[in-house]
Parts: sequence; structure tokens; C-alpha cells
Amino acid sequence: MTEAFVAALSAIVGDDHCLTDPSLRASYETDWTRRFRGDALAVVRPGSADEVARILLACVDAGIGVVPQGGNTGLVGGSVPRGGEVVLSLLRLNEIGEVERGAGEVTVGAGATLAAVQGAARGAGWEVGVDLGARDSATIGGMVATNAGGVNVVRHGSMRSRLLGFEAVRVDGTIIQRLPGMPKDNTGYDLGGLLAGSEGTLAIITRVRLRLVPRLRNRAVCVIGFADAASAVAAASELRRRLASVLALELFTDAGLDLIMRHASLAAPFVVRPPVYLLIEVASSDVDPTDTLFAALGTLAVDESLVAVATDSGGRHRLWELRERHTEVMNAEGVPHKLDVSVPLARYAELVERVPVAVAAVDSDARTIVYGHVGDGNLHVNVLGPASEDEAVDDAVLELVLELGGSVSAEHGIGVAKVAWLVRDRGVETVAAMRAIKAAWDPTGILNPGVVFER
Ligand code: FAD
Ligand code: MLT
Ligand code: ZN
Repeated sequence: MTEAFVAALSAIVGDDHCLTDPSLRASYETDWTRRFRGDALAVVRPGSADEVARILLACVDAGIGVVPQGGNTGLVGGSVPRGGEVVLSLLRLNEIGEVERGAGEVTVGAGATLAAVQGAARGAGWEVGVDLGARDSATIGGMVATNAGGVNVVRHGSMRSRLLGFEAVRVDGTIIQRLPGMPKDNTGYDLGGLLAGSEGTLAIITRVRLRLVPRLRNRAVCVIGFADAASAVAAASELRRRLASVLALELFTDAGLDLIMRHASLAAPFVVRPPVYLLIEVASSDVDPTDTLFAALGTLAVDESLVAVATDSGGRHRLWELRERHTEVMNAEGVPHKLDVSVPLARYAELVERVPVAVAAVDSDARTIVYGHVGDGNLHVNVLGPASEDEAVDDAVLELVLELGGSVSAEHGIGVAKVAWLVRDRGVETVAAMRAIKAAWDPTGILNPGVVFER
């Protein structure tokens, strides 16, 4: 049966795009963190929505699960097989349409990388409006499927806010489309909004219409040191209130900076090493935002020796590296337990202070390193030390987050990593409503089994 099934897949995509050899499958079977992996029955790489439809019909017929995959940069294990599924790689659907300069819109294939779309948008005087460190590999389809956030949510919102239209393939082989999409469009249910954040469990996204934002050419980046998380959060709130030009508000700690300096050979921003750092980027399309940044900084009681500002692109990049390279250096230290959570801003500093204590209570040898998008109340908790399958530290962190009134997934999704926490976070009734949608869209449960919901 398996041989006939794989032959049917090969007939749809061509032999070159149906991979069964273990060495060719390998990079599709392990996630970015190396914490999650599984064997695929095959990896198929369709070249059109029509081929996607035929693959789905074959998988429903055979009762074989399908794991959609874009750039495989997801951090919750949702893009790699659990064992025995077909990996559906969307990377060949990477066409980028012409940017409509007047409207600031573009239609792109689900497999186009964020960096490629950013390049096309900038060339036409626009920006995607969502940015994240995995930009060279993360795909637009994967970003919609996870409702990716990133560093500019404080200004432009998450991926769902940028979604104007979509094309998607359902398990019954139908292709649904709302392209080009309109900024005002209340005709019936917002199915694109539903697919955003569905993590490959409802349909396969094949094309996306994006609503771009004006290009912000005037920029300044500033890193400020603080004695504790509470003063950094208070300063972040004040800067956000005073400056309409805020594009990013990020937090990291000296423990993370230490790893960055060691693994990435970067220099600290100041001679003195404070425990907590705030990074702010301000940006404007028409005026230089630096003066208003300085004026706002003047109202904060910050120590001038703990302030670094850059307005040129090289200097800005160097300051950004101190925050952006955290993900990479966590991986260089080991296989991290990554917990992406959010809490109301009023509880953020408390979370930063209490999370290492909660981890130490269940594993005194574990190292906890936090960083995140403080402007969105989003903290990334990385725990190094415990074995991948030991979930005691994950549970301790998520328990604390719920106690503080937060969410167990801020921007990375549930994946397989947090399925056990969905009901704890959302409640039985809400999860039943979610399951009703899943049952209507994927009655046989072949789309990303084990992701979002417990099987
Ligand atoms: P994948 O990892 O391939 O897939 C992610 C999920 O989407 C899976 O469940 C998959 O099944 C599903 N999926 C993929 N494509 C489709 C499709 N076409 N149709 C239906 N389902 C699909 N995330 C943030 O939100 N903010 C950040 O700041 C951020 N920074 C990162 C930095 C680094 C260095 C790394 C490695 C990751 C970061 N991420 C961040 C996580 C990741 O980049 C995002 O989740 C991204 O949206 C995943 O895109 P992808 O194409 O790699 O998707
Ligand atoms: C980030 O903000 O750096 C990303 O979401 C990735 C991570 O959590 O490491
Ligand atoms: Zn993030």
C-alpha cells in the first residue's frame, strides 16, 4: 500500500519532488531547535495549488497525515513529522507578484521568504510591516499559519493585520480564494483571519495578498541599561506613550548578552554591565525621529553612561544584533526549552523576576535566559540544561504565566510543544468551539495531527 501511495504522490509532483531517501528527507524532519523530530513517509514539494489539492485528496484517501512546512523555522514542533506523515513542503510556491505602488499591496506565493518579499516591497517604496530574525528562511505562508509577530508588532501588528487576501486548499481538494482582497471587506466570515494562526490544521495556504506599510527611511536605535526589569518596563511604557515613532521595544538581560559576546564575538554596548537592557527603535517616513527620541530620553531618569544610540545603518545593525542573535546563541549552548509567553504589561517585570525562581524550584541546575518584545508584553523564556523530553521546567513556567493572567503562546503558536496547555489556558468551552471548526474543515483529521489539539 505504501509503495502505491508514494508512487501516486510521485505521479503528482514528479520523481524529483517526492523524496523518500532518508538523507534527502533529513533536513525536513528535524526542527530548528533540534528538540522535535520524526520520520516522514515522504517529503513532497508541489509546484502549484492544483498539485496541493491532488496530494491532499490522495492523503485523505489513504488516511495518511500531512505536515505542511514552509521554512521550518517554527519553534514549537509543528512543522516536522511526529512519525509516518507526509511532509508537504511549500517552498516551490515562491513567486512574488508585482507590488502595486499606489495601493501598497502585493500577492505572493506561500513559499516566498520574508526577506525576498521585504526586498520586493522596499524596491517599490513600501515595507512588509512584520519583521523577525528568521527572515531569510521563514515563509509568508508559515508566517500567516503561525500569525507570526516579531519586532514591529508594537507599530504594525502581527501577520493577521497584514493579511488582505489568501488562496488556500481544503482537504476535499477545493481551492478557496479571496484575491486580491480589499482593506474593507465584510462579506461573510473572515476566513483569512481564521487561517491566520491555524498552524496548518485547517487548510494549506498557497497564496497571500499582503497589505504593505510605508517605508520608514529615517531611523534611530537606542540601547539603555537598567538596574532591574521594573525600571526597564516603566521606561518602555513611557517611551511608547511619548513617541508615535516607536517601531520596536525589546528587552534582554546581561545573561543573554554574555552568551552573545561569547558565541557571536560582539562587544557590550557600555563599559558597565547592567542587569537589564531595553532596545528601542524609532522610525519615520518623513522626519528624523532622533530629536524627539532624545527629548523623551531626557524625561527618563536614565544614567547617560548606560545609553548607546545609533542612527547610521551599520551602528543600528550592531545594536540590533545584541537582541536578534539571542535565538542562535541559545542553540549554540544546547537544545533549549523555548517558552514564548505573554502577560499583561503590569505583570511583565514580575514575570522576568519570578521565572528563574520557578525554574530553579524544579531544576536547580537549569539556566534560564529571557528576552522578548516588551512592547507587546511578550517574553521568550529559554531554559538550558534539562533533557528535551523532561517537561518539568516547561510546566513550571507555564503555570506561573497562567497565575499572572497571561497566555501560554504569544507568537510562536501551540505546535506540539504546548498541546497539553491549550485547555488550561482557554477553557473547555472555548477549545470545544475550536474543535468544532477543526472537525468541519478537516473531518478525518489528516492535517497536522497532534498540532494545537491533543489527539
Ligand atoms: P514553518 O516552521 O515551516 O511552519 C510553522 C507552522 O505553520 C507549522 O505548523 C506548519 O505546519 C504551518 N505551515 C507552514 N506553511 C504553511 C502553509 N503554507 N499552509 C498551512 N500551514 C503552514 N516567530 C515570531 O512570531 N516572532 C519572532 O520574532 C520570531 N523570530 C524568530 C527568530 C529565529 C532565529 C527563528 C529560528 C524563528 C523565529 N520565529 C519567530 C519563529 C518562526 O520564524 C515563525 O513561527 C515563522 O512564522 C515560521 O515560518 P516558516 O515558514 O518557517 O514556517
Ligand atoms: C525572538 O523574538 O527572538 C524569536 O521569537 C525567537 C526566539 O524566541 O528565540
Ligand atoms: Zn519573538
